[in-house]
Amino acid sequence: MIDMQTCIVKAFTDYFHVGPDWVVRSPGRVNLIGEHTDYNDGFVLPMTIDRSVYIAGIPNNNDRVELFSLDYDTNGSFPLEEINELKPNSTTWLEYVKGTMWALKSAGYHLSGWTGVIAGDVPIGAGLSSSAALELATARACQVVSKFVWDETEMALLSQRAENQWVGVQCGIMDQMISARGLRDHALLFDCRSLEGRLVSLPSNASIVILDTGTRRGLVDSAYNDRRDQCEDAASALSVNALRDIDLTELLNKESILDPVAFRRARHVVSENARTERAALAMEMDNAIELGELMDDSHVSLRDDFEVSSIALDEMVECAHRQPSCLGARMTGAGFGGCAVALVETPYIEEFSRRTAEDYRSSTGNDPDVYVCNATNGAEQL
Ligand code: GLA
Repeated sequence: MIDMQTCIVKAFTDYFHVGPDWVVRSPGRVNLIGEHTDYNDGFVLPMTIDRSVYIAGIPNNNDRVELFSLDYDTNGSFPLEEINELKPNSTTWLEYVKGTMWALKSAGYHLSGWTGVIAGDVPIGAGLSSSAALELATARACQVVSKFVWDETEMALLSQRAENQWVGVQCGIMDQMISARGLRDHALLFDCRSLEGRLVSLPSNASIVILDTGTRRGLVDSAYNDRRDQCEDAASALSVNALRDIDLTELLNKESILDPVAFRRARHVVSENARTERAALAMEMDNAIELGELMDDSHVSLRDDFEVSSIALDEMVECAHRQPSCLGARMTGAGFGGCAVALVETPYIEEFSRRTAEDYRSSTGNDPDVYVCNATNGAEQL
């Protein structure tokens, strides 16, 4: 199989009849635990995956960005001056590029034009953050061409701004932060309030397996925004800045202040924050058993209290649990479809992957994609 870097260099050369000056890549992510906590100022524990968005390019002298997308087989181009003002547009791939450059420009970065080819192997809409990968790959391409200092945290924040304000999707900071700050063979415990992170290694005897249900989320934006509003309302009813500021004992004491739905939403967020910090400690102690148990608890909480799972995700998690080598499994990302993630004893990953996929296929009729994934570096020039 040809790797993505070779493939994009060849595509560039075929298209422009000259080789690229540079290739950048930025990875998608899988969140191990800490779901729907980022916009509550809480903790997340994502890791990068070995699937990325790649851009190969050369600088140009015409103050434009000119791009050919291999995945969509289309061209896109725009003059840099077109991104001076905020003009929210659609969610097509080119708007993520434009939006990221708008955010960079409005933060005072001087940008030069470039011409490139873009391609990726992060599945779209699967909950593995193909959009954050695209934003950070764009930021990296701009940094290589315009030669500014690369500050990972700042680049993640500006990419999030592009997604919130240009594309119009109200995501938290997790996806952009891990795509910018990820490190090979590590996950990142990240505090979404202080913006401080701690890299943690994966347990030595366990592997991360992505379980793509083959279903894609529908109506996710409105459900996601509803959950955000419910969390903010619960925080203000509890007189705290964010759900990050209350622990489970206090929440249980104040249950009567909240309506039952708000209470369950808050209980998920508060308990998930605690699980996420414990999960990082378990990883540091090389305790795969505890990490797996925390992932299981996270799924139950997302399913029953936060109500963002789906029949397919629940079934996939059940199928994973039927394998004795499964240490833990949960839905990952925003939910409502897409992927689950499992922690599996390394010697059995092939058997686990095959059997889980067969079991899921025969019980749902859906076509799953089950694969082991390894953490790679965050946004980088190759
Ligand atoms: C999406 C968002 C993230 C985060 C997750 C849920 O991936 O982009 O910011 O809120 O959902 O944990």
